[in-house]
Amino acid sequence: MAEQPTAHEPAATTDAAFLRALPKVELHLHIEGTLEPELMFALAQRNGVTLPWPDIAALRQAYAFVDLQSFLDVYYQGAAVLRHARDFYDLAWAYCERAAADGIAHTEIFVDPQTHTARGVSLDVVIDGLEGALADARSRWGITSAIIPCFLRHLSPEQAAQCYADCRRFGDRFVGFGLDSSERDHPPGAFAEVFAQLRADGYRAVAHAGEEGPAAYVREALEQLHVDRIDHGVRCLEDAALVRELAARAVPLTVCPLSNVRLGVVDRMSAHPLQRMLDAGLHVTINSDDPAYFGGYLGDNYAAVREAFALDRDSLSRLAANAIAASFADGARKAELTRALTSVTG
Ligand code: HPA
Ligand code: ZN
Repeated sequence: MAEQPTAHEPAATTDAAFLRALPKVELHLHIEGTLEPELMFALAQRNGVTLPWPDIAALRQAYAFVDLQSFLDVYYQGAAVLRHARDFYDLAWAYCERAAADGIAHTEIFVDPQTHTARGVSLDVVIDGLEGALADARSRWGITSAIIPCFLRHLSPEQAAQCYADCRRFGDRFVGFGLDSSERDHPPGAFAEVFAQLRADGYRAVAHAGEEGPAAYVREALEQLHVDRIDHGVRCLEDAALVRELAARAVPLTVCPLSNVRLGVVDRMSAHPLQRMLDAGLHVTINSDDPAYFGGYLGDNYAAVREAFALDRDSLSRLAANAIAASFADGARKAELTRALTSVTG
């Protein structure tokens, strides 16, 4: 028995090193969800914002989420400390440092414009800060990136259209648009008009669907919003015909394992449908969603599923390859990422 830890250690180290070396692509990451408690309190002090929690310990206690809404309530309150371009820079830079440590080569980050403009913070301020950090991360680590603003589905389609008009000023500085926030009772089809417009304007489209909402919302996002990827999508398994269609069309699903456990979408990691999704031939990718709130960044998510499902290197490589294929990077960058992946996987 005494020898067991020693005997296991080299293999674990090697697996961890393999995971770290895999050139990873992150496709489902809310930048506001990377706000660590320490930075939240530092920014609150810097900006004279009063948070509803007296200290970091109390904030961490509020992380006992029972569902998506209980998380969103905390997440939106935390975002109130972000006021100036420098705050958004610091937020995104902290994420990029983690991304570099995790071996992320390309990341497509979500931002919720309405969360900020509703507080009188202009989108120019938000984007100036984010783009500054992303440009610096590209210079320092070669990490390429894109920004995907998301419409808040608990607000109206008219408000989404106003948000889109505001975003349109930024032209191709955004690669596409998404739909997030409270999914229950907020079907994607309500936003068909703004999605038709943005697609006509040449943008890519994604939407959260099938996280807490039913499989029917996944179908609706495909058929009415014509999305290129589904964010989450785990509940698609409740509709066998839909699963067959998603697999046949190779529609990417941006799955977020630690998020699903923390928000009660699944009871525990071993009950996560990831393996079933892979077995069904679905184009699954691994992502971190809101890592500051859900207990882990991208590397932690890969490690968690590797452990829960005893995934071998081929399976991990397939997940990484799926993310490259599903990204909105241009062909040259995708080819570069694929070469980098092959150099690790052999
Ligand atoms: N689901 C919906 N909206 C969100 C999420 C999520 O997981 N994270 C941040 N906004
Ligand atoms: Zn999300």
